[in-house]
Amino acid sequence: MLSINRIRAQPRAAKASPFSGMDFADPKRKNNFVGKILFVTVLTGLCILLLKQSPNFTSPSAGYILLGEEGKKYLIFRNVKSRPIDIRVNYKIFTEFSHQEPGVMHVLVTGGAGYIGSHAALRLLKDSYRVTIVDNLSRGNLGAIRVLQELFPEPGRLQFIYADLGDAKTVNKIFSENAFDAVMHFAAVAYVGESTLEPLRYYHNITSNTLLVLEAMARHGVTTLIYSSTCATYGEPEKMPITEVTPQVPINPYGKAKKMAEDMILDFSRNSNMAVMILRYFNVIGSDPEGRLGEAPRPELREHGRISGACFDAALGIIAGLKVKGTDYSTPDGTCIRDYIDVTDLVDAHVKALAKAKPRKVGIYNVGTGKGRSVKEFVEACKKATGREIKVEFLSRRPGDYAEVYSDPSKINRELNWTAQHTDLQVSLQTAWRWQQSHRNGYGPPLASAS
Ligand SMILES: NC(=O)c1ccc[n+]([C@@H]2O[C@H](COP(=O)([O-])OP(=O)(O)OC[C@H]3O[C@@H](n4cnc5c(N)ncnc54)[C@H](O)[C@@H]3O)[C@@H](O)[C@H]2O)c1
Repeated sequence: MLSINRIRAQPRAAKASPFSGMDFADPKRKNNFVGKILFVTVLTGLCILLLKQSPNFTSPSAGYILLGEEGKKYLIFRNVKSRPIDIRVNYKIFTEFSHQEPGVMHVLVTGGAGYIGSHAALRLLKDSYRVTIVDNLSRGNLGAIRVLQELFPEPGRLQFIYADLGDAKTVNKIFSENAFDAVMHFAAVAYVGESTLEPLRYYHNITSNTLLVLEAMARHGVTTLIYSSTCATYGEPEKMPITEVTPQVPINPYGKAKKMAEDMILDFSRNSNMAVMILRYFNVIGSDPEGRLGEAPRPELREHGRISGACFDAALGIIAGLKVKGTDYSTPDGTCIRDYIDVTDLVDAHVKALAKAKPRKVGIYNVGTGKGRSVKEFVEACKKATGREIKVEFLSRRPGDYAEVYSDPSKINRELNWTAQHTDLQVSLQTAWRWQQSHRNGYGPPLASAS
């Protein structure tokens, strides 16, 4: 990681050994001005060379500036097209993000390098919001940030802060240095299967990190929160469709961690002037219709992956075929039924929720289509979308899977004037498939390993 301190400390450290033969390093010799200049020039050249060789170094020539801070895992890309590039510059001189500007709403998008967060950031930027993305790149992609930077290069539109939301000091620092008007909190680990294997990781990453974000919001007077929740908080409801008052009885650590985060937010909002919107998503599919962003999970998460990822992997021959577990459910074709929602519709729900968020008010909404589609239907749609033959193996039920899950979206229709406009199983899958086809390697290799 690049650090301003490290760059500044170099001349002092270099005095000791590697250059000790130079005039500059010998205190007894007379002041040799030319020698000093030469020494600094050589060192600067060496630093630049080393930085360029570092895997974490991005050349600032592309219109970004890369800044480090006191050796911390903290790295900022800012739009500086119209500014001179100076890697030593103190980032505080960029005031666009640290001051409120009349008529400009500044939204912190946590997890904005991930699948849904990057699509949300794109929509916010298109709608003229100022966006700060905070992501630790444990699961997201720097490539998605680059796409957004290239689309919105003007100063003051988008900044990316590479930071871990589990680090309270850093979170606090980010809030103290930036004037946020609202937070969309997407960042999370989000695989049901993984959560059963690593429950503590889920409680830490989801529940505890949401607490840190809430505390920072309270401390810095940021009062609008749009929270990414999930239908997994409902568990196995007895009655379908699921409404917002369906009892929440989650059955896995992922759902439980999200439910706890919701409870914290609700408890805190009761005695504050928070404007809260909790959106409980159903199964998210699709990608940007213009093909700029897509879903690119880490290959190592494949085994926990979602059905669309598995279908595409099967279509590409990465896996041998699909294993459909359970054909004897009491559903029309015997396979499980789920409610799929296109990411474009989901992001639209966020923008509408942000517009309608009011101090001292909490809105909780299911974001789904209200229509369930069976696994068999999904596989058929995937075959048509990809134009590939997909081998399907039908197996017995997997314990813990419930037959039908679909939403009642009438509350969000009524109160936010939102309906799913872009969700069409085959079309959504076709769009996602096009992106997969043109990005065989996703966004390229990740910058950081999982933390
Ligand atoms: N994808 C779905 O079908 C779905 C369904 C329901 C709810 N959700 C929720 O939507 C949100 C986004 O999900 P997604 O599918 O885009 O997942 P994703 O993995 O693509 O994105 C999550 C992002 O959060 C980042 N992140 C994780 N931990 C972090 C930390 N400690 N500090 C900073 N950044 C961190 C990751 O690097 C990643 O970029 C999550 O909260 C998830 O629970 C998703």
